[in-house]
Amino acid sequence: MKTLAKVLAALMLFALMAVPTLQAKELDGKLEIFSWWAGDEGPALDALIKLYTKKHPGVEVVNATVTGGSGVNAKAVLKTRMLGGNPPDSFQVHAGQELIGTWVEADRMVDLTPLFKEEGLMEAFPKGLIKLIGTDDGIWSMPVNIHRSNVVWYIPAKIEAMGIEVPKSWDDFLAVAPKLQEKGIVPLALAQNWTANHLWESVALASLGAENWDALWNGKLAFDSKEGVAAWKLFGEVLKYTNDDASSLSWQQATDMVVDGRAAFNIMGDWAAGYLSTTKKLAPGKDFGWAASFGTDGQFMFLADSFGLPKGLEDESNARAWLAVLGSKEGSDAFNPLKGSISARVDSDLSKYNDYAKSASADFGKDVIVGSLAHGVTANEGFMNDFASVMELFLKTNNPEAAAKAAQQIAVKNGIAM
Ligand code: GAL
Repeated sequence: MKTLAKVLAALMLFALMAVPTLQAKELDGKLEIFSWWAGDEGPALDALIKLYTKKHPGVEVVNATVTGGSGVNAKAVLKTRMLGGNPPDSFQVHAGQELIGTWVEADRMVDLTPLFKEEGLMEAFPKGLIKLIGTDDGIWSMPVNIHRSNVVWYIPAKIEAMGIEVPKSWDDFLAVAPKLQEKGIVPLALAQNWTANHLWESVALASLGAENWDALWNGKLAFDSKEGVAAWKLFGEVLKYTNDDASSLSWQQATDMVVDGRAAFNIMGDWAAGYLSTTKKLAPGKDFGWAASFGTDGQFMFLADSFGLPKGLEDESNARAWLAVLGSKEGSDAFNPLKGSISARVDSDLSKYNDYAKSASADFGKDVIVGSLAHGVTANEGFMNDFASVMELFLKTNNPEAAAKAAQQIAVKNGIAM
């Protein structure tokens, strides 16, 4: 008996000594991560890289970014690299159809289920989110956040000086907009074309309501139905009150117009909260204000950034360690307070977040949740690219019927509608 006890004790001691040595196995070489979080969009990503480097000092992180909001330029570069057999170690991709209907369908991604299990992440995210990044065959990316698309931004003091109140509906907005224009103020700041897609989804959500918005994406409501046409009509009305130089501006420059008082409002995702607080050092609730975009109160149009692991890497170790950092509570709560988003995890520490994020988190818990088109949830890349052309045409011609018809055609072409 005594000998058995001794053997067991020796085994336990060995196990205790062996575990740290195994864990301490140093990673080395390079890790190339690919995203569109450059410049002003960089600080939150930098926080993650810092955390990774602290844990894995032997790895040289190559932060490959291609500027351009919502990945307008990055996605094209990524496509070329993926098709050319030169994938980055890990790349930014939106949860939903941008991931599943594009890269998973093309069999380009590695199943992360084992990693999720090793890192204890199977229960860390809401079930609905796991559904968006998973199929029957696996889990295909690591979510880093939840962003809200349908938000209107303004500066409370400037709105007061303009003698107006924040509109609740598009009717309210259309009533006040001409008065602002008379004063030389742009009612609604707009930037390059992808931000028109972004504005469109807020307008369409207000015009259609959440149920019909969802119905567009599961093929139950035609894009050229009377409801579909009405959304484009309203969008056309709204565009009359945007700035003429929109197509040459970045989304940050449109936000700047609001900060400077050249414009009254801007509808943008809550990365604008990150920009206003992290870059511009403005205090949420005091220096800048927000509300659900006009006519969408009680609805939360969401999207989630995530990173995936492409097939075909020589060595996946550094990328797997990267994804583990992204999924961790520590990583999430380092990244999101700077980014303007809320954590995708169910256990995040809200005390680390500002008042904007706290309000977004509360809304996420009680609102009706719908997916964003402009940021990859509802449609694959094929539809998105075609939709960009529909939008371009609409911006030139302002023809609601033609746009609705074209949208229906591309929905059929890309397998959304019959
Ligand atoms: C979105 C992305 C956000 C933010 C934004 C502006 O597509 O999900 O994280 O980067 O584009 O570039």
